[in-house]
Amino acid sequence: METATQALHRLTSYEPGREWDEPIDDPRVLQDLVTNDVERLPWFYKRYDPSLPTVPLPLQLPPTMAPTVAVLAGTVDVAPAELNLAQLSRVLHLAAGVVRTVERPYATWLFRAAGSAGARFPLELYVAVPEGGALPAGVHWYHPQDHALVQIGPPPRAGAPAIVVTGIPWRTGWRYRERGYRHTYWDAGTMLSQLLAAADSGGLSASLYSRFPDRAVTELVGADGVNEWPVAVVSLGDEAPALEASGPAAAGEVDADPVEFPLDTAAQRAGDLEALGEPWPRGEPLDVADEGTAPVEQVVLSRSSQRRMDPEGSLSRRVALSILAAALRGVSLPHFVVVHAVDGTEPGVYRWPDLDHPVRAGELRHELYRVCLDQGLPRDAAFVVIGTADVGGLDDREYREAQLTAGLVEGRLHLAAYALGAAASGMTFLDSEIPGLLGEPLDALLFTCVGVPEYTPKPGGLPHRPVEFRQVTPRLDDED
Ligand SMILES: Cc1cc2nc3c(=O)[nH]c(=O)nc-3n(C[C@H](O)[C@H](O)[C@H](O)COP(=O)(O)O)c2cc1C
Repeated sequence: METATQALHRLTSYEPGREWDEPIDDPRVLQDLVTNDVERLPWFYKRYDPSLPTVPLPLQLPPTMAPTVAVLAGTVDVAPAELNLAQLSRVLHLAAGVVRTVERPYATWLFRAAGSAGARFPLELYVAVPEGGALPAGVHWYHPQDHALVQIGPPPRAGAPAIVVTGIPWRTGWRYRERGYRHTYWDAGTMLSQLLAAADSGGLSASLYSRFPDRAVTELVGADGVNEWPVAVVSLGDEAPALEASGPAAAGEVDADPVEFPLDTAAQRAGDLEALGEPWPRGEPLDVADEGTAPVEQVVLSRSSQRRMDPEGSLSRRVALSILAAALRGVSLPHFVVVHAVDGTEPGVYRWPDLDHPVRAGELRHELYRVCLDQGLPRDAAFVVIGTADVGGLDDREYREAQLTAGLVEGRLHLAAYALGAAASGMTFLDSEIPGLLGEPLDALLFTCVGVPEYTPKPGGLPHRPVEFRQVTPRLDDED
């Protein structure tokens, strides 16, 4: 029997011969949706009654010193800090604040600190704070542009302050249809990699939970479980996260006219649980050859998704191994590395952590261009990382977790790459071509291109000071 997420995975798989924005012919998939319709561009974030109590967050972010790669590798010993508003402000901005804007004819596009497939940014963050600490008690929605906490509900009952991440399927489905379900988890993993790195480098204890009582968490943050559902929880402190509501929360509005994707709703519901699970293990600390010096805030603000990589450039093996080791610490999902240009390493496909014996040797630039829907970045990168799973062997909750893990690795690859002078971009792919590429009957979850940048983007801004920028367009032609 096919599970709900296995059905979603199959019905949202790309294959040659069908355009990526064309729906598969199946009654479970919306057939008449016009995608990318700027007339009904979803809101960039939720809206609430403006009379709700609001706490502005400090605009100055407390500086940190630890090198980003060492933070990811778990080798730094940061002195524990008190969880106060300034610390929370730093964590929220470096995870999900507005750091850049782009003027488009129909909207000012808001870019957030962490990347998002197609710049759809389908996530919302809430902070649930019980009585008795340095933070204002209540359930708060994080306003990413005003950089403020909007109180939407009464304080939760006992526990550690919790960050709840939700996904809005319409915001990403506007462009990607039902495949946006995958994107929501990818984007959440990407964003959480920055949130956890910000917490770790700031001396805050943070634990990630992907198993939690879905209904209770949905109610805690006033979500409806259809147009908005919970994706992950982070507790800030050593106790279990405070997830039990003491009263109802304001619902707010996710959009003027959100579209439901029944396939996504069914996939999400099928994985719902009633109890809190264990926090994710953080992995043993590991020594990496090259740690760089740039602290997390510098790397986060200097990162972006590189639109053009230098096909003539290469990365040293030392840098490539440092990026990979830091990004994949504690990750058990199989990851493959397609090497194009890493000094002293034969081009080909490798199964991490073995970067000495390719499972498939040879030059694969042209093949990756094709497998990634004729996009230039995976061809021009120095190496491409592919997160995989056997989707047929996953239950509905494990499916969510697999996509989240793939996103977490994507985000960490980004951070480690920029910390060491390289660049990165997430990347989508033709599902049908993966077994042929890897030589194994596995499903791909997410690709990440890592390479030599062709330009340096303007750094993003601090809260209330997003930087206006012009987007570089990717190179699309296949020159092979
Ligand atoms: C999970 C994920 C998948 C992505 N897939 C692609 C892709 O297929 N092609 C591409 O050019 N960029 C891709 N991107 C990059 C996004 O377009 C980029 O993150 C977004 O425009 C925001 O810009 P920024 O990352 O520079 O902040 C992806 C990003 C993420 C996080």
